[in-house]
Amino acid sequence: MDWTLLILLVVPTVVHGNPTVTVRTGSGPPVGSDQHPNSVPLSEDTQTTTEVMVEVMTTGVLNPSHYPARRAATVVQHYLNTLYGSPYRWIFLSKVHSGSAEDVAEMRKYQLELTMQETISNVSGQCSAELLFPRGEGQSAPQVQASYEGLLQSNTTAQEEAFYQQHRASNNMVSGNDIPDSYGHMEPSMKPFWHLGGVASSFIMLRESNESTLYNMAQVANFTQLETEKDQLRFNYHVLLHEMISQEIIHWKLLVTWSPEQGVQVLQTELQPKSHDCEAPPNTTN
Ligand SMILES: *[C@@H]1O[C@H](CO)[C@@H](O)[C@H](O)[C@H]1NC(C)=O
Ligand SMILES: *[C@@H]1O[C@H](CO)[C@@H](O)[C@H](O)[C@H]1NC(C)=O
Ligand SMILES: *[C@@H]1O[C@H](CO)[C@@H](O)[C@H](O)[C@H]1NC(C)=O
Ligand SMILES: *[C@@H]1O[C@H](CO)[C@@H](O)[C@H](O)[C@H]1NC(C)=O
Repeated sequence: MDWTLLILLVVPTVVHGNPTVTVRTGSGPPVGSDQHPNSVPLSEDTQTTTEVMVEVMTTGVLNPSHYPARRAATVVQHYLNTLYGSPYRWIFLSKVHSGSAEDVAEMRKYQLELTMQETISNVSGQCSAELLFPRGEGQSAPQVQASYEGLLQSNTTAQEEAFYQQHRASNNMVSGNDIPDSYGHMEPSMKPFWHLGGVASSFIMLRESNESTLYNMAQVANFTQLETEKDQLRFNYHVLLHEMISQEIIHWKLLVTWSPEQGVQVLQTELQPKSHDCEAPPNTTN
C-alpha cells in the first residue's frame, strides 16, 4: 500500500475525530487541508494504530526508501539541475542516506543526507539539503538549501563549448522528436538535447512539486531550435512529465535558452491540455 493513500485516508479521521489531536497553531479551520498533527503525545489519547503509523512515517526520522524521503530528495535533484544543469551536466539522485521531517510554523521542513550523481561523467558526491514545503492555500514552490561535496567536479567546459559553437550559427536549425523513442533508443547526437530537456523540465518540476508529488521527465516529445538571440541558444521544447503518484503524464511546452556563460534558463512555460490519445504507460488513467 502506498503511503500517500494512507495519509489521505487518515487525515479526515484526525480532523473529525478526537479534537485533542488537532493541536496545531489554530490558524483557521483544517478543512480539506493536509494538516497533520506532529506533536501528539502517543499515550494520551485514543488514536488508532493507523494514525500512529502515519505519524511515525511522515515526521521524525524517515525511512530512506519510502516515498516521503524520496519525494523530498527528488526535489533537491530538480533544484541542483536548475542551478548547474547543462546539455552535458544532468544531476540525479543516487541514494537517500537519511532524512527527517518536522512541522515548522506553516511549513514542513525536511533534512536530508543524499548521494547525487552526474549522469554523463558518473561523478557522484554527498549532499546535505534542507527543504521547506509551504502548506495551505496558494501553493508555492518548495524552498531548498543544499551543500555538497564532490559534485560538479567533472569538467564539461570543452564539450559545452564545442556544442555551443556547433549550434550557435543558426544556418542549420536542429530539431528532434520522441527522445527516447518507445524502445528507449536515441541517436547519440540527440543526447545533449535530451539532457537539456531534462534540466529544463526540472525548473517546472521544482516549481510544481509538493509533498504529495513525485515527478520525473518521461520523454522529450519534440524540440525545435529557434534563432540565437543575445548569444543564447534558444529552443522550444515539448516535454512529457510523469507524476508517479497519480500516474499522470503531463505535457508542458517550454521556451529554453542556454549558453555556457548564462546556463540554462526557462523563459516560458505552458501547461498543455490533457490529451486522450497520448502515449501513456499502460497503467495510466487518462
Ligand atoms: C558512466 O557509466 C556508464 C554506465 O556504467 C558507462 O557506460 C560510461 O562510460 C561511464 N562514463 C564515464 C565518463 O565514465
Ligand atoms: C576545464 O577545462 C578547460 C579546458 O578544456 C580549462 O581551460 C579549465 O580551466 C578547466 N576548468 C576547471 C575548473 O578545471
Ligand atoms: C500537490 O500538487 C498536485 C498536482 O499539482 C495537486 O493535485 C495537489 O493538490 C497538491 N497537494 C498539496 C498538498 O498541495
Ligand atoms: C510535439 O509533440 C506534441 C505531443 O506529441 C504534439 O502535440 C505537437 O504537435 C508536436 N510539435 C511539433 C512541432 O512537432
